[in-house]
Amino acid sequence: MTVAASSAVAGVVVPWHRAHIYKVLVCIVLALIALQYLSGAIDRRSIETIFTINTSRPPHQHRTLVIYGTGGSAASGSEDDMQDESASNASSSSIGIRASEASGAKNASSIESSAAGPTSKSSSDVNASNNNNNNNNNNNSDDGSREPPLCPAVPPNLVGPIAVSKSPPDLSAMERAFARVKQGGRGAPVECRARYRVAIVVPFRDRFPHLMTLLYNLHPLLLRQQLDYQIFVVEQEGTGQFNRAMLMNVGYVEALKERPFDCFVFHDVDLLPEDDRNIYNCPEQPRHMSVAIDKFLYRLPYSDLFGGVSAMTTNHFRMVNGFSNVFWGWGGEDDDMANRIKSRGLHISRYPANIARYKMLTHKKEKANPKRYEFLKSGKKRFLTDGLANLQYEIMVKKRPKLYTWFLVRLTPPAQPS
Ligand code: BGC
Ligand code: MN
Repeated sequence: MTVAASSAVAGVVVPWHRAHIYKVLVCIVLALIALQYLSGAIDRRSIETIFTINTSRPPHQHRTLVIYGTGGSAASGSEDDMQDESASNASSSSIGIRASEASGAKNASSIESSAAGPTSKSSSDVNASNNNNNNNNNNNSDDGSREPPLCPAVPPNLVGPIAVSKSPPDLSAMERAFARVKQGGRGAPVECRARYRVAIVVPFRDRFPHLMTLLYNLHPLLLRQQLDYQIFVVEQEGTGQFNRAMLMNVGYVEALKERPFDCFVFHDVDLLPEDDRNIYNCPEQPRHMSVAIDKFLYRLPYSDLFGGVSAMTTNHFRMVNGFSNVFWGWGGEDDDMANRIKSRGLHISRYPANIARYKMLTHKKEKANPKRYEFLKSGKKRFLTDGLANLQYEIMVKKRPKLYTWFLVRLTPPAQPS
């Protein structure tokens, strides 16, 4: 009726009508623009929310931590004791990843007895596979099938603080429980392509229960962190003085025979991570990871400490010629590595102490090496000759149980120790 009336006086009505239509169109366009802007803002907000985590500081001290796993570094923040894993300027004090169902390790459903492990020589044979080396960004694999996308810079399923478990089930139950872990202690995300290939090297002797506890806590954490990882347990044969540094050198050399790892995390068997934001990825600068340990009242004993758990890229480790081989018995080898790092113009970086937290399993005190200060002092003149350059050892046994790759190694003391 109205339409008919309008058209009856077409000469007058149409221009008014047109103007009206233009107005409506302009409004629609403006509304669309506004809508797009708003949805962008909403997206940005939710991204900020995901990336922003609570530092557990008192409110007046709150600073925002941002996990930014791009490039070489990941979870980081602006705590005082954090060196150089640069902090973000992001605003707001905020929320994000909370401890909740946080138990990193889930209980195994049925528990049966089994004995397999470094010294109990179980499991399958040496069978070095050389796959999973694909690190390019091409989403098409060789057979034409579509590859999953690159994993997000921030692993989405982190829970923050985790309830460390010091009583793992026995090995066979654990093997069944970790369905996603592949023979030899390998894990990788299936939903996306990992950003980092990381070898975890555990120098070892005589601490099988500690090893079980570490595996029970570490595998779930590494899986949540969406890393392509493998755990190598390097056991020193015999009863001579323990040489932690040489075992780590051996781990480095042997791991690289399997796959081109981007970086290494050297991990004491008795340290259990308490927070999965402590990301085991490849650091831009060598990263000391066990910043706050319960045994040291969660305080860093001294700023050059590089012991416990530490991470280095494959290139940096090669650049410093690995660890020194002359430190037999307890202590000093990590301090020597700190000196090597500095001598190459690198420096030790750290995550914030409220994230880089560990519980230490108890054990009897090791006998300290009385010569360590002397070796430390003269270390500099050996940097080029003592390390990967003169490493000698023999692999006595190599096996691949499900939860780790195990080497039993006979170490050969270097010809000229000083
Ligand atoms: C030793 C280091 C050790 C540190 C913390 C130092 O005296 O030389 O090897 O990591 O103490 O226990
Ligand atoms: Mn210890």
